Amino acid sequence: MSESLNPSASPSAPTPGEAAAGTSSAAAETGTVSSVHAPASAAAGIPDDLRAASFERQRRLRQEPRFPGGPAIDPAGSHHERRIRSFQPRRSRVTPGQEDALLRLWPKWGLDIDGQRVLDLPELFDGLPAVLEIGFGMGEATAQMAADDPGTGILAVDVHTPGQGNLLGLADRNGLSNIRVANGDAIILLREMLKPDSLDGLRVYFPDPWPKKRHHKRRLIQPEFLDLVAQRLKPGAVIHCATDWEPYAEQMLEVLTAHPLFENTLADGGYAPRPAFRPLTRFEGQGLDKGHVVHDLLFARR
Ligand SMILES: C[S@@+](CC[C@H](N)C(=O)[O-])C[C@H]1O[C@@H](n2cnc3c(N)ncnc32)[C@H](O)[C@@H]1O
Repeated sequence: MSESLNPSASPSAPTPGEAAAGTSSAAAETGTVSSVHAPASAAAGIPDDLRAASFERQRRLRQEPRFPGGPAIDPAGSHHERRIRSFQPRRSRVTPGQEDALLRLWPKWGLDIDGQRVLDLPELFDGLPAVLEIGFGMGEATAQMAADDPGTGILAVDVHTPGQGNLLGLADRNGLSNIRVANGDAIILLREMLKPDSLDGLRVYFPDPWPKKRHHKRRLIQPEFLDLVAQRLKPGAVIHCATDWEPYAEQMLEVLTAHPLFENTLADGGYAPRPAFRPLTRFEGQGLDKGHVVHDLLFARR
């Protein structure tokens, strides 16, 4: 890839700590929080006019696309579902470069997860095998993998708008035509928009660890998630997970090992050595700086 990728030089992405604690001070991107819970201002005795201004702002956020022609806000209305989601909706700052990429490149390489149509992956990637990456963050590792393996199409999904713009810009500047950027909840993409036996692989690198016990139900890698994934992967296709959060690694190993439709590619049934094709990711770098140990897991669909 012609452009060098330095995760630490890129603008802010949500940290696992922020995501876990739900501490984003930015307005919720989808208005989910306000539509489900009474606003914190009510309890805090905030004056009525300020509360009304806040409601008005959130009403506009729900109605107006942030980038005309770009990614929609909560395209499938996933906040209406009575389901615990694995991400915290947030409205993060977008740099001018990311905004330019969203406006210019979304019509070409972006797709909203609206839950309304079934994707034809061979058509989307001109016949290339297609892997899904859930939660690409700022997308540096995704772009690197796409550059290293131009014979594979990567359907990269995240809800994080700055990351979507960043990845589109990286694809453009590096001439990568094998990436498509999907906006929205990966669960809806898997459930409503992908055909059975359609994926050649799934990558989930450093999913939000949700370290607090009361948040564990938000973790992505759970038996029900694997049931859905097993239906979408082709037989023999590999799910590749990586995490620097030891208790989550143990949970991943436990649920993947217990699932009847997945088989550990490691003969000893344990963690895999880090495959050479997986670049260092931004969150991985942050974990390593804290002294965390990284685990990779590679399980094949039976
Ligand atoms: C901790 S970050 C890791 C980012 C990147 N893989 C890395 O290692 O730097 C996890 C990402 O997953 C995304 N995410 C979590 N649940 C998701 C879901 N259900 N659908 C789409 N994206 C999701 C979050 O928005 C966040 O960007």
